[in-house]
Amino acid sequence: MAKSELKKITEDQLGEGKLIEGDTLAILGKMGDNMVDLGISSPPYNKQGKQKGWLVKNVVYNDYGDALPERTYQENQLSVLDEIYRITKPGGSFFYNHKIRWNKGTMFHPMDWLRNTKWSVKQEIIWDRMIAANIRGWRFWQVEERIYWLYKPIGDQLIGKELNSADAKMTSIWRGVPENGKKNPHPAPFPLWLPARIIISILGTQKSGIVIDPYVGSGTTALAAKILGHKYIGIDRSPAYIEMASERLNNGSREKDKIQKELNLHQVEESFKERKSQGKNVGKYRLPSSIRKRESGPTMPLIR
Ligand SMILES: C[S@@+](CC[C@H](N)C(=O)[O-])C[C@H]1O[C@@H](n2cnc3c(N)ncnc32)[C@H](O)[C@@H]1O
Repeated sequence: MAKSELKKITEDQLGEGKLIEGDTLAILGKMGDNMVDLGISSPPYNKQGKQKGWLVKNVVYNDYGDALPERTYQENQLSVLDEIYRITKPGGSFFYNHKIRWNKGTMFHPMDWLRNTKWSVKQEIIWDRMIAANIRGWRFWQVEERIYWLYKPIGDQLIGKELNSADAKMTSIWRGVPENGKKNPHPAPFPLWLPARIIISILGTQKSGIVIDPYVGSGTTALAAKILGHKYIGIDRSPAYIEMASERLNNGSREKDKIQKELNLHQVEESFKERKSQGKNVGKYRLPSSIRKRESGPTMPLIR
């Protein structure tokens, strides 16, 4: 959908979903209140382009420098997050992927601006990507990013409803490598399991909801929503990425098996309720012993 065609975006125009080219904040302004059920997104991180000598330089967007003054960047993110709050139904959620960054020794944490939004911060999930972009040793390798589960309360009810047992068994650490650059030419795509995990856990697959990704890039969130039976709205400023996403959605069946693999993880033999009624353990979570054991490495002398 081209920018010029856009007047007001309403639910009945959506069909199976829409990809919209344009600036996120401007497009969100054309959407009505309380329209979407769930959002999932990874914004540009304001990486400061070439100044960041300690980062590998492969995350380069095709028409965007990603180098705003930090204050301008944070103010823009705050406005985007509050617009998404406005268009989200009460009881709806937004999953916001970001990371801790440093510039000349000053740390910027996503909570610096998240606390000033209208959202209630329900959980901080650590995404252990098992791979880092650092090429210098100023700090330990930063292998993690963060995913903030933001919740729009119903009245003064800040907590919302419980997850199903099959979804609540996921821990707050999600381990999985980023998408393979050879399979997806976008510089920073989600792996498909990530939006799929969120959609399955929050919306399920029985009823159709509306899922938005305000920085849709190669269309990963939209594709997961489509395969799982939901409507999607994807926004990106780059015509090339909108084209890429559109093509991917048209050939979506090729990636169904990845969604199936994630769905297979959302199963329990007995629900929490059933275990409780049979007096079985409903308490502690323990990692399998194979993971708990410390990995053994080469033996190093303790004292030199
Ligand atoms: C981290 S990428 C998102 C990748 C996406 N999750 C995927 O799976 O492909 C961020 C995207 O935001 C887009 N973008 C940056 N600034 C934007 C803006 N002001 N409005 C709309 N899109 C923007 C970039 O073109 C880029 O595709």
